[in-house]
Amino acid sequence: STGFNVAIDGPAGAGKSSVAKKVAEQLGFLYIDTGAMYRALTYAAIQEKIALDNEQQLVQLLKENSLELTPTEFGTTVYWNDSNITADIRSNDVNKHVSLVSSHKDVRLLMVEKQQQLAHAKNAVLDGRDIGTYVLPNADVKVFLTASVEERAKRRHLEQLEKGQPSDLKVLEKDIAKRDELDSTRSFAPLKQAEDAQIVDSTQMTIDEVIQTILALVKEHS
Ligand code: C5P
Repeated sequence: STGFNVAIDGPAGAGKSSVAKKVAEQLGFLYIDTGAMYRALTYAAIQEKIALDNEQQLVQLLKENSLELTPTEFGTTVYWNDSNITADIRSNDVNKHVSLVSSHKDVRLLMVEKQQQLAHAKNAVLDGRDIGTYVLPNADVKVFLTASVEERAKRRHLEQLEKGQPSDLKVLEKDIAKRDELDSTRSFAPLKQAEDAQIVDSTQMTIDEVIQTILALVKEHS
């Protein structure tokens, strides 16, 4: 690998994407949102009415279409062929089904190949579940970003309310805990802290404190 790579893994709703995006911005690195890739395939499969446990059809869908992530000042724009599906991939329906889609080994192998190609050539920050353990085992900096389920659900809840969308805190807690369980118990490349990852528990931290903590780790390692 020729680039400097920062891996940020952790459970759902820990703030990985906001943090990773800002860290990348500060460093002038590319930001790669790997969750968006699994979300995009999930969204497309739902649209195409593909059974989400049909691994080979999912693989075929991914191979026969183009999935592009374009970095913008607001985050990442996601294109499925010519459609901009950036907003669609954040729906509740996608939240509910993405863990099943991402549990398939052959789906993951294709995604991982794309992620490695993007990261190897460049200085990049990647966020996901298996970046430090599987995608980039030699990443220069590895962070495992976590927070209590209650705190993660509360943050999502406030986000929803701010957007004027209906939200039920208890339902969010249940959904988040369920997704974590599915992601950490799948057999291939599950969500897991890498042995050499630095744990950052953001339960009592602001986003800015988390960003500064990670930037300090990068400085130490460069
Ligand atoms: O990070 P985000 O919540 O957008 O990820 C959505 C889902 O995609 C996760 O719950 C997980 O099932 C899957 N995922 C994964 N491996 C990654 C990134 C995301 O399995 N590296």
